[in-house]
Amino acid sequence: MSSITIDGHRIDVLFTQDQIAARMTSLAAEIASTKPKRLLVVPVLKGSFIFAADLIRAMHHAGLSPEVDFMILASYRAATSSSGQVEVLRDIESMVKDRDVLLVDDILESGRTLAFAKDLLAARGASSVKSAVLLFKPGHLAASIKADFCGFDCPDLFVVGYGMDMAHQFRELPFVGHVVK
Ligand code: IMP
Ligand code: MG
Repeated sequence: MSSITIDGHRIDVLFTQDQIAARMTSLAAEIASTKPKRLLVVPVLKGSFIFAADLIRAMHHAGLSPEVDFMILASYRAATSSSGQVEVLRDIESMVKDRDVLLVDDILESGRTLAFAKDLLAARGASSVKSAVLLFKPGHLAASIKADFCGFDCPDLFVVGYGMDMAHQFRELPFVGHVVK
């Protein structure tokens, strides 16, 4: 396994840039095969911004032309364990009534964040609310939710990179890695 050291932190690579790029293509094909109508893609910021940027471009190549609007939810703050609380810091501007909505998030762990977002948009009359997550960390589900589209199953480790952070650091890494120390 390759690793790099930044500011004294050793980070082991879990999913390489090439593995992620290949998975974006197949994930977009899976999404396109469900033939979404009047699709609105809603990346849940901040951690999903790089995943969403790559996924929507892969979706274009898969023949989709979604609208995209953003939501900022906070559940973690600058800590490495979940507070259990979900808060809307920035809402979407788009109307979701009678549309197929695809939530895009970085990690599905307890499921509280996605369950919250899903309930919110379903209550506004979306015809369907599905979710695409880059990583699923099994074993922590507290809400009854399943990702409709999932990039990779992730080991039970704190991960960073490809948009994901540890106290806002390491989002720029082009791979997903585990902070060892
Ligand atoms: P949950 O599914 O509501 O527990 O929250 C998942 C959210 O917690 C993700 O969208 C991330 O923002 C954050 N998160 C969970 N595990 C990690 C991790 O290993 N690294 C960085 N953020 C994480
Ligand atoms: Mg998140």
